[in-house]
Amino acid sequence: MATKKILLTEDEMPRQWYNILADIKMNPPLGPDGKPVTPDALAPVFPMNLIEQEVSSDQWIDIPEKVLSIYRQWRPSPLIRAEALEKALDTPARIYFKNEGVSPPGSHKPNTAVPQAYYNKEFGIERITTETGAGQWGSALSYACSQFGLECKVFMVRVSFDQKPYRKTMMATWGGKCIPSPSMETNAGRSVLEQTPDSPGSLAIAISEAVEAAVSDKTGKTRYSLGSVLNHVMLHQTIIGLEAKKQLAKVNEYPDIIIGCAGGGSNFAGLTFPFVLDKLAGKEITIYPVEPAACPTLTRAPFVYDHGDNSGYTPLLPMHSLGHNFVPAPIHAGGLRYHGMAPTVSQLAAEGLIIPQSVTQLDALAAGILFARTEGHIPAPETNHAIAQVIIEAKKAKEEGKEKVILFNWSGHGLLDLGSYEKYLAGGLTNFELSDAELEKARAIFANYPKPQIIKSR
Ligand SMILES: Cc1ncc(COP(=O)(O)O)c(C=O)c1O
Repeated sequence: MATKKILLTEDEMPRQWYNILADIKMNPPLGPDGKPVTPDALAPVFPMNLIEQEVSSDQWIDIPEKVLSIYRQWRPSPLIRAEALEKALDTPARIYFKNEGVSPPGSHKPNTAVPQAYYNKEFGIERITTETGAGQWGSALSYACSQFGLECKVFMVRVSFDQKPYRKTMMATWGGKCIPSPSMETNAGRSVLEQTPDSPGSLAIAISEAVEAAVSDKTGKTRYSLGSVLNHVMLHQTIIGLEAKKQLAKVNEYPDIIIGCAGGGSNFAGLTFPFVLDKLAGKEITIYPVEPAACPTLTRAPFVYDHGDNSGYTPLLPMHSLGHNFVPAPIHAGGLRYHGMAPTVSQLAAEGLIIPQSVTQLDALAAGILFARTEGHIPAPETNHAIAQVIIEAKKAKEEGKEKVILFNWSGHGLLDLGSYEKYLAGGLTNFELSDAELEKARAIFANYPKPQIIKSR
């Protein structure tokens, strides 16, 4: 019998994160004057120790002891061979998944929430504001803040707030305060509500609210935290891929194909960046980020300079973007409803080092149900997008008669997302696809924006 769960001991947990900025060439973020932003300009928003990480080009960065000791609450996470899924698909492929759903809030998000809370605390910060889509990030940051005695305020995208009421309770249990966005608490929220009183909200609007709430706090003891997109978030998440590499080596395997769902890019980056390092050195690996067809950032939107938030508070970031005013359809995978994509992930896509894919909401749910009925665990709606692509690749391997090794990130469980399963099982879930006309309309805002260059890293 093949090994089902490939485990690492706590002593085998990686002691450093991998920083891809050492190995790829990036366009810089730009300030309002069109010039590269300086670390000082970001100081009202983030603590300086995290800003230093954001711009660091050191290839390896030590994980602080205190962070390692909290990681031990659930890490190293198991790598699991999905034998029952393989059998159901009758595929010669060997499928492995990294189970990030074992963390206290149930996803990969605390891999960065814990170090972000740690660095804020070290810098003397007392309160953190943030946004959340599906609620996974807001709960992860509430949990992390509780570990360090920090206050946490979360602006949760309205549609998800209504779909997932227990997320709010989860955040409150850890001491976090969760309010639906757009809200009347900020200028950013009020101006959206004036124009669209029944706005379902978006991550971009919630980010504007959370940034505004942080920088307008007169005490100077509040900072903002982002759960995806930024370089330091991708960095912290690489613990996933570094562990997975060690685990696969234990069973003498190496992946041919690696897959992760992509909202802002962090769980995808976390699993794949340590393997991109090998790819840059010549290894043959096919790497797929998978996004929803309703929010096709990498697959259909251009590589541009755009703001990370709705009100234009953030610098211009070089990324694939649908436009910062884009409000995606209310799909259940709330964590994938983001108009942009991490600059590092966007850069790899622009260079052709990764191959973006998209799947529909119904295909994603069907994949999640097959997974739950074979492997047992009920996946988050976001994770289902990765599973749908795994199924496509496993079927291809069968057609080609090839023994491919497929590795994917099981980014979180869906136990607080059962509304989407309930609707799907009752036949009430529909697909949303973005029309070309809507896409063109969204693209129009880029006409006078600066254009990033596509720089080859190898
Ligand atoms: C379980 C899960 N997977 C994936 C994502 C997408 O985010 P990212 O692309 O940053 O990993 C989210 C976001 O909330 C999530 O909750």
